Amino acid sequence: MRNLRPTGAAAALVACAAIAAVAANPSAPAHSASGSAAAEASVPANQPLRTLGALDNLRIGTAVNTDALASDAPYAQLVGQQFSTVTPENVMKWQVVEPTQGTYDWTAADTLVAYAPAHGQLVRGHTLVWHNQLPTWLTDGVANGTIDAAQLRDLLHKHITDEVTHFKGKIWQWDVVNEAFNDDGTPRQDIFTQLLGPDYIADAFRWAHQADPHALLFYNDYNIEGPGAKSDAVLALVTKLRSEGVPINGVGIQGHLGTQYGFWGADAVAANMARFTALGLDTAITEADVRSELPMDNPKTQAQAEGYSTLLQGCLLTRRCISFTVWGFSDKYQWVPGVFSGQGSAAIYDENFAPKPAYTAMQVDLATAASSRGEDEQ
Ligand code: GLA
Repeated sequence: MRNLRPTGAAAALVACAAIAAVAANPSAPAHSASGSAAAEASVPANQPLRTLGALDNLRIGTAVNTDALASDAPYAQLVGQQFSTVTPENVMKWQVVEPTQGTYDWTAADTLVAYAPAHGQLVRGHTLVWHNQLPTWLTDGVANGTIDAAQLRDLLHKHITDEVTHFKGKIWQWDVVNEAFNDDGTPRQDIFTQLLGPDYIADAFRWAHQADPHALLFYNDYNIEGPGAKSDAVLALVTKLRSEGVPINGVGIQGHLGTQYGFWGADAVAANMARFTALGLDTAITEADVRSELPMDNPKTQAQAEGYSTLLQGCLLTRRCISFTVWGFSDKYQWVPGVFSGQGSAAIYDENFAPKPAYTAMQVDLATAASSRGEDEQ
């Protein structure tokens, strides 16, 4: 597990951020950040992300499309080469693992869970309780009243227990509860809140811990990388859970960004993460991607690199930020165009698996942090 980061890393990364900011300027030459910062780094930046991350005890991950892993050789090659942790993009969600009530289908998830150790990777389990991608037998049953509150509680208990037990000993981090808040910090009025009340969250963590006491258990959400009402609400939640002795180990910051919205700086991300660290929790960037309104141009491409960089630098500057996961690494399989009309190009590789400046920026950040760490240890 990572320890306190060296002081030199902060200065080096802030310098790196300044360079990245210049690179985001439309008048700057294409990704000048990589060349200049790489030249300063004593650790060569042109290495796989997982190799560079390992130098700073940071796992670098990706969400994995298991169909592509089975059928697309260049895709599979990059999953193994670049990443040291994997998250199933969809195949551990309730909708997929229990499509018919009482009948489990673990096939696709089992494949990824077997793939990971064979490639020196850990697995982030994703996700046990979420308002989305639920089985229709469950949502229909709640909607038509054939599933009441007591039954929903029993079903949730069984779902968590059975899934965590099935993968017991094979999951590094579990996203136990996903997206329980609205952007204004109020509780999301999903079926769990409405029928079970807010205590379902503590119950979910307790049930997961009972089924696999060694897995790290995370609360996971989006729009919480910087300060604001939503991260305040998550902070209040995890503070309460910790004070009540609920077995929660970490907060996952999804990190779905867009170049049209701008980003928090690395310092703000690190300061926000530090609020969770102070409670004794790990943090992780769990679903980083940076989308744009299409078509792309050079300023958007450079801004995208800056977006990834602020999240990664925030993590590198934070004690106990233990993994950085991108939500799909290639535009060939990225979820954004299917959900946000007219937007895309959110990944660090294009649809032909050519790395973008965002990929290079990640290499530079990781190499810069590893170089400063080496200097401090001399
Ligand atoms: C959320 C979920 C992910 C994924 C993304 C994009 O962030 O946690 O599993 O579905 O949305 O769709």
